[in-house]
Amino acid sequence: MELVQQAAETAEHFVAPLGRRWKHVQAVAARASELKDAVPSRDRDTLVAAAWLHDIGYAPEIGHTKFHPLDGARYLREQEWPEVIVNLVAHHSGARFEADERGMSDELAEFPFEDSALLDALVTADLTTGPAGQRLTYDERIEEIFSRYTPEDPVHRTWVKARPVLAEAALRTEQRLTAQRLASHPK
Ligand SMILES: [Fe+2]
Repeated sequence: MELVQQAAETAEHFVAPLGRRWKHVQAVAARASELKDAVPSRDRDTLVAAAWLHDIGYAPEIGHTKFHPLDGARYLREQEWPEVIVNLVAHHSGARFEADERGMSDELAEFPFEDSALLDALVTADLTTGPAGQRLTYDERIEEIFSRYTPEDPVHRTWVKARPVLAEAALRTEQRLTAQRLASHPK
């Protein structure tokens, strides 16, 4: 089966029962398709597949540690998904910052971190899509996260540190899209 199709079906299996998170995941996959020109053409299916799969770690049957990027990545590794997808899920949207807050950096280090256009685009798709699938700006999305978690919560502390770093990822994605548009429609 085609990679993106297989990812969509796997995501539906794990995330559809979770209610509004399924709306979020479907919207992130659609947003990743819109952003696909920000990655090399050979990576486009990988981006969209990773967008489908990024939050499967929230499913109780695989969420063993309750740190969803790690749980999702471990499941995908066990199921022999391509390594690049496994690593993208492990490190999506500032997981390394949250791992640090939760004392789980050693576990997350099972998965190599690669600062790539692919990770930037996945981060951008996730962080410009709200929890019910609505389109948000990066800043609106971060404010929305702060509104759901009290300042003592590790997620809140994570985003204080991650916010400026991931803003750069979103900016790089926009710059790559603009460069790609200019290259395909020269004045
Ligand atoms: Fe996530």
